[in-house]
Amino acid sequence: MNIAIFDSGIGGITFLKEAYKALPGENFIYYADTDNVPYGTKSRDEVKKFVFQAVDFMSGLDTKILVIACNSATSAAINDLRKNFRFPILGMEPAVKPAVENSKDKRILVLATTLTINEEKLNNLITNIDKNNIVDRIAMDRLVMFAENFIFSGNEIEKYIAKALSILNTGRYGTIVLGCTHFIYYKEIIRKLIPGNIQIIDGNTGTLNNMINIMKKDNLINRQNGRIDFYSSGRMDKLKRINKLMNLLQS
Ligand code: DGL
Repeated sequence: MNIAIFDSGIGGITFLKEAYKALPGENFIYYADTDNVPYGTKSRDEVKKFVFQAVDFMSGLDTKILVIACNSATSAAINDLRKNFRFPILGMEPAVKPAVENSKDKRILVLATTLTINEEKLNNLITNIDKNNIVDRIAMDRLVMFAENFIFSGNEIEKYIAKALSILNTGRYGTIVLGCTHFIYYKEIIRKLIPGNIQIIDGNTGTLNNMINIMKKDNLINRQNGRIDFYSSGRMDKLKRINKLMNLLQS
């Protein structure tokens, strides 16, 4: 049986890389909804429809557990997905909790898509956790399509990020939370553009630990042949560029 990982595009590869390293004997399915990316600038209902199409497809592929490695899709659809499918489904949400717990008096900045920022899920999370009002949030939607077009460095990206940050007093932040899996490719550029010794965190490791705990509890861990199959919006895809992506990510 397969561990299924889903994202609107290549953002979830950042999770796949960590998961494959931790569980090299498992079989994985990676599904990128390349026909409909980006999600972050679309409406909740539209995204929910796309996510259901994808998860319906994956449910026919011997899926034993599913990770929605996309904060935007999680915001829009996770509750309804859990009501409709039998296998365990993990979502991904901005790692605000560990950021607040370790904030050491500095402010926290969440970077995510417009959809994630506007959705109730993140707003409820922040209301529950951010008792001292130290969490700010901004959208950086264009990074998603930069990544989809395999633009990972260069002037255009630096200018875009610097402009988005220019409305903030970046010296006040101690932690940046990457609340979109696509943004992980830009971690080092973001670090370079913010003064001081900033901590940058994402939700991958927390989600992976949760996934492994569920798999142990439900007896879902097993050694198979350690393969990864890629699908682009329901079509089998060799994703030849996948190795480039895997190498781009620090192990
Ligand atoms: N990787 C998705 C996320 O984590 C990207 C959203 C998009 O497709 O705009 O939010």
